[in-house]
Amino acid sequence: TLIPLLDADTGLLQGDTVADCFEVSTSEPFLSQSHCLTEMSSRGVAMVPKLALDVMSCEVMRVLQLTDNYIVPISYQVPRKNSGHDFHADLYPDTAGVSPAMAAAEWWQGGNKQSTSSSPLSTPTSSAAASRSPSSTSGLSSGFLPSPSPGQAAKAFQTFLPTSKFRHIQGVVLHRDTHITNVRDLNLTTPGECDGFCANSQYAAVPLAIAGGQIAIFTRSQPGKLPDVALPTIQNSVNVADLCWDPFDTHRLAVGEDAKIRVWQVPKGGLKETLTDSELILQHTEKIYSIKFHPLASDLLVSSSYDLTVRLWNLEDGEQVQLLTGHRDQVFCMAWSPDGKQLVTVCKDGKIRVYDPRKSDAPEGPGPDGHRGARVVWVCEGKYLLVSGFNSSERALYLYSAASLSSGVVASVCVDVSPSTLIPFYDQDTGVVFLTGKGDTRVHIYEIVPEDPYFEECSSFKSPEPHKLQGLAFLPKSECNVREVEIAVALMLTKTTVEPVVFKMPRVKREFFQDDLYPDTPACWEPALSASAWLNNADGQHRKISMRPADMTPSEAPKEAPVRKYMPSTFYLEEKTDEQKKEELLEAMVAKLGNMDDPLPQESFEGVDDDEW
Ligand SMILES: *[C@@H]1O[C@H](CO)[C@@H](O)[C@H](O)[C@H]1NC(C)=O
Ligand SMILES: *[C@@H]1O[C@H](CO)[C@@H](O)[C@H](O)[C@H]1NC(C)=O
Repeated sequence: TLIPLLDADTGLLQGDTVADCFEVSTSEPFLSQSHCLTEMSSRGVAMVPKLALDVMSCEVMRVLQLTDNYIVPISYQVPRKNSGHDFHADLYPDTAGVSPAMAAAEWWQGGNKQSTSSSPLSTPTSSAAASRSPSSTSGLSSGFLPSPSPGQAAKAFQTFLPTSKFRHIQGVVLHRDTHITNVRDLNLTTPGECDGFCANSQYAAVPLAIAGGQIAIFTRSQPGKLPDVALPTIQNSVNVADLCWDPFDTHRLAVGEDAKIRVWQVPKGGLKETLTDSELILQHTEKIYSIKFHPLASDLLVSSSYDLTVRLWNLEDGEQVQLLTGHRDQVFCMAWSPDGKQLVTVCKDGKIRVYDPRKSDAPEGPGPDGHRGARVVWVCEGKYLLVSGFNSSERALYLYSAASLSSGVVASVCVDVSPSTLIPFYDQDTGVVFLTGKGDTRVHIYEIVPEDPYFEECSSFKSPEPHKLQGLAFLPKSECNVREVEIAVALMLTKTTVEPVVFKMPRVKREFFQDDLYPDTPACWEPALSASAWLNNADGQHRKISMRPADMTPSEAPKEAPVRKYMPSTFYLEEKTDEQKKEELLEAMVAKLGNMDDPLPQESFEGVDDDEW
């Protein structure tokens, strides 16, 4: 039975080897939970009296855990800037005193007195103003033990559960019937700037490790085992540096290579015979790093190249229409802003630059350190730039303000240790970003929110063993099955297969359209304007369409999403790095669940809101 220990002053509630700590409040969400994993299992727990706490280190609660051989103190401290110097009065309302307020007989006769604060807590300095006074000195002078320092006897870890409503998102590989198998000769050593794989609603394109820069085109509507004989390919002649589909023409594939960009037209129904003639050739001077189509204007392509230039091409006539300079080293990645007005680049010279390609100025600001590669994507309706890069050996995500690059990193989070750059895909409808690197087995998922804490980790997707993801290519939103509450759909490339993976939300009442997950979505598969209009300074916007099928009714009484509290119990409790959280949570779950394979985190949680199912 969980043993509840409540500290009435802060509303913290402590409840085996996992100690759960809840913040209890009188308004939504009522309970905010955090896990505290302890080294040994408990035989009993007891709360230390409030007056014994080390107030100067902002300790708000201390629990003693009895194990087989030890008594282990577990301390809860609020991280505060001036802890140790100031008395933080806001954490310590007057607390109940230790002398009796009345005798038993008095209570029996209906007496109702409060035990008054004997106020040793505020002994050093007694008012709220104290927290502003840097001169307050000692902590409790009454001879109580100082709180255990982190890492001391108590190896108490605190793990915070994500609060994103997408935290229980599930990645599911669709049925074998939808897979393309017996894929062979993939080129798995594509350059770091290239995603190595690209897909649209009809086709997937992958460079092959066969002489002549050949590219395989898989047709999504024709799953099954590929024949053992060589398949028709696109013969690009030269090794592929980067490739991408035209967002407005599912048959048009652009391929960057040595000093050219070739634009290919796949015949309707897929490749029946090998294609040797491209539709268009753009003549570059140097090898290409990467290419990107414009998100709103048709026939507009941008390329970055070894000559450190970024060039804009109008495919209506095959002409270069703009030349952007300023990079001093390799261009790792480029991304168009969602409004199509700006282009951001992240460069090996350690800078992020935001170009207005129709003008020439380019404000720049510091980017991630390191020479190992980076990606960039616009998030939060263009307000922020999400960069995936490296912090020494760790893969890390950084958030920058697009309008104020020079002010540096707004928020950052370390993901894990791995050599390949995380490739982000951002779903602007939900604010969820999916990240995976070439050769990884895991897809990391975060909800990005435009205010603290910015990154909210969701449960990650692990590809079924022993698959390594050679690539993950996300499809347009229109490919999501809303009846199954899918919020993103991707094709996963393994060494020998192409398999659809859906990311969906566990919901109970799936017969209703889950309107809270599906705002009207931009029709990004239709151009909003032409290249020449855009080049003449016109701007466009995608029309927005509803995802609701005609025969589905919106979920009954569409409830306001619970008001998100960005400072739940984490406000009161000390936080760990994401890496530690993951490890500890995993360890705890493995310990608890025995040898169950990769348990879903939600299975070990209680108190999940009904409307989140
Ligand atoms: C795969 O592509 C890369 C980059 O274009 C190229 O350098 C490499 O030679 C290719 N590998 C094979 C086996 O063709
Ligand atoms: C990078 O790592 C160091 C040490 O591991 C850490 O102190 C620092 O905060 C990290 N930087 C960012 C931006 O995450």
